[in-house]
Amino acid sequence: MENKKVISVVLAAGKGTRMKSNLPKVLHPIYSKPLLGYVIDAVNGTGLIRENIVIVGHGAEEVEKFVKEYTNNAICKLQTPQRGTGDAVAKAESLLKEFKGTVLVVCGDTPLIRSETLKDFIETHEKNKSALTVMSAIFDNPANYGRIVRNEDGSLKCITEEKDADSTIKRIKEINAGIYCFDKEVVFPLFSELKCNNAQGEYYLTDIVAKVIEKGMKAEAYTLKNNEEIFGINSKTNLAQATKILNARTNAKLMEEGVTIVDPETVYISPDTAIGKDTIIFPNVYISGKNTIGTNCKIGPFAHIRDGAEIGNNVRIGNFVEIKKSIIKSNTNVSHLSYIGDSELGEHVNIGAGTITANYDPVLKTKTKTIIKDGANTGSNSVLVAPVTMQENSMCAAGSVITKDVEANALVINRAPLKIFKDWVTERLKKGESGGK
Ligand code: UD1
Ligand code: CA
Repeated sequence: MENKKVISVVLAAGKGTRMKSNLPKVLHPIYSKPLLGYVIDAVNGTGLIRENIVIVGHGAEEVEKFVKEYTNNAICKLQTPQRGTGDAVAKAESLLKEFKGTVLVVCGDTPLIRSETLKDFIETHEKNKSALTVMSAIFDNPANYGRIVRNEDGSLKCITEEKDADSTIKRIKEINAGIYCFDKEVVFPLFSELKCNNAQGEYYLTDIVAKVIEKGMKAEAYTLKNNEEIFGINSKTNLAQATKILNARTNAKLMEEGVTIVDPETVYISPDTAIGKDTIIFPNVYISGKNTIGTNCKIGPFAHIRDGAEIGNNVRIGNFVEIKKSIIKSNTNVSHLSYIGDSELGEHVNIGAGTITANYDPVLKTKTKTIIKDGANTGSNSVLVAPVTMQENSMCAAGSVITKDVEANALVINRAPLKIFKDWVTERLKKGESGGK
């Protein structure tokens, strides 16, 4: 616990008007995980965090509910009304009274920030013994960002928001990434000095920089190497762009680890999915949520793996197969057109084409489990109505609806008996010719 000495403040109270959505901005998902979840994971991933304080406002109840369910080291603090980023951080004061040390401020809408970067940022801030460090980046098109204004000797002077900037300042390409570290004890008292006499009538967190410098304390900028990390989400277009960037990053990492991805452009894999080496991912595969997939598997083309799949080694998940919250042990095949949800499949199971695990009771709105043990087989187009178990090496015939448990080594058939009407067609034709009915 010795290392966990930093407290983070995550700004997540803003409305996100440009999302044109009823959902609070930070709850918009990428692969079923809200943007805020990515930020919390990145912050916690530094290994330096004692606690996260999430500043909530717009959609506070929903955001708070998510935070409570998602992590046990975060608390929410309400900011109403939202009077600017400076006011937002100041809201954390009552929770920081006893705290001595570094506060990290991040925004809840920048899901691409990486733990490694935040860790280096915090460590640089502490090593340089600065009172405050702000993360900056060099942008060819810096429009809409706050600009980092430096003195002639290159030292940091202040941050000026675009809306308050003159044409000289607007030409500055170094922008404020919106991520800060500061020493709580020396910087927090300055928040009470913030004024809102600016173009937006808000209390700007950015004004803290000039205040720190005015007091003769050390403030520096840390320049980010990879600009995409601070890509902020303001619109649905941004959400799609972030998904692409995140995906390229995830796929590149998986390929480096020995996963074969035939066409990375069409393969979407959530960063919370682990995949073993020599597994081949064919085109048009979508994998969201937290999953593990072993080695030597073949996934796709056109497969959909949702949250909570635990897939062993040498498993085949073929085309038009959907897997959700299921354990699939090694050497098992689900090759075509099947839905496997809330299920446990043993080893050497073969799931015939078009098998459905019917896991949902729409009356009671509950989900129940299907268990298919080692060596069992399902025939094509069979429906297993959960809760149901097929024991070891049992078989179900094609087209069967299975509503009862099947014992080991048994064959189960549940379909109308086959009838063949000999010469039916010729007789029907004859009747037609004689005008008979
Ligand atoms: C802010 C910075 C700007 C920087 C940019 C980087 C200020 C004044 N400006 O501008 O210099 O380049 O971020 O993206 O800080 N929020 C609250 N409560 C509020 C206002 C905002 O929690 O009262 C939250 C928002 O939800 C958001 C974050 O703070 O997560 C940033 O707010 P936003 O309005 O997006 O700031 P920008 O105008 O982009
Ligand atoms: Ca703003």
